[in-house]
Amino acid sequence: MNELNTKIKKFAQIILDAQNVVALTGAGMGIESGIADFRSPGTGLWEKVNPDEFASIHSYVSDPKKNLDFMLELGMAIFKAKPNKGHKALTKLQKLDKLNGILTQNIDGLHQKAHSKDVVELHGTAYEAICMSCGHIYSITIMIDQVRNGKYSPSCEACTGLLKPNAIFFGEPLRSETLSQADRLIEECDLLIVLGSSLLVYPVAFYPRKALSLGAKLAIINIQETDIDASADVVIHDKIGDVFPLIVNIVKNEIEEGH
Ligand SMILES: NC(=O)c1ccc[n+]([C@@H]2O[C@H](COP(=O)([O-])OP(=O)(O)OC[C@H]3O[C@@H](n4cnc5c(N)ncnc54)[C@H](O)[C@@H]3O)[C@@H](O)[C@H]2O)c1
Ligand SMILES: [Zn+2]
Repeated sequence: MNELNTKIKKFAQIILDAQNVVALTGAGMGIESGIADFRSPGTGLWEKVNPDEFASIHSYVSDPKKNLDFMLELGMAIFKAKPNKGHKALTKLQKLDKLNGILTQNIDGLHQKAHSKDVVELHGTAYEAICMSCGHIYSITIMIDQVRNGKYSPSCEACTGLLKPNAIFFGEPLRSETLSQADRLIEECDLLIVLGSSLLVYPVAFYPRKALSLGAKLAIINIQETDIDASADVVIHDKIGDVFPLIVNIVKNEIEEGH
């Protein structure tokens, strides 16, 4: 048996042995659905735009137009995207009663499109716009229509405040309710599965360390290495869509044979 097969079996066994499994997903999860991530060499969005100038709340407020073209490009990729094999495998794991919840950094809504439940969107969603003055939430289409009609300071219909996508920009705090939900999932899990995250953005970067310190196991699938690989119980440096469905199939077969 080659090394990859051994790791796939070990990964599946760790899931089978766990009582409370939580998944933490990052932009690597969306790649196979055609949405670029930030940090993959050659294709990551940060090679196209400067993160200090884009997707930060300060730059958005000072010059919405500069940011909106980039956001529209990412948004269009998101709106036409379909769930991939990785999203579907997570849903399958949940149906097997082997997944308690999903913490995602993604704003693409693809876990929900794949019919996964208990998804905590740590960084909000690309499908909504929020008024920066009164907090009213709209469908993102309201904002896109205004921008397409040349209104590069899209505004709230109720109070004329500036609209922004209801996703967390750099420089913005995460919502306290979302953080509490995430803390609870991390505290209760005995296995954290990381799928497609460089684990460089806080607070998400902290969750694997927190789970480990509370005695949980850690399993990672990510093409690039992460800073916490050495502490994980199993790490696979491969594409999620190529390996995670195989892992979930082993789990499924074992559970069905056990009955
Ligand atoms: N799909 C989306 O919603 C989307 C897209 C771009 C950025 N973002 C935002 O980007 C921020 C960056 O954090 P991040 O850690 O999620 O992303 P990241 O870009 O920092 O890291 C993505 C990681 O995924 C790995 N990867 C790429 N393709 C993969 C594949 N097919 N299988 C396995 N691994 C793969 C890469 O090696 C990389 O380490 C987050 O705040 C997130 O909100 C979201
Ligand atoms: Zn308003």
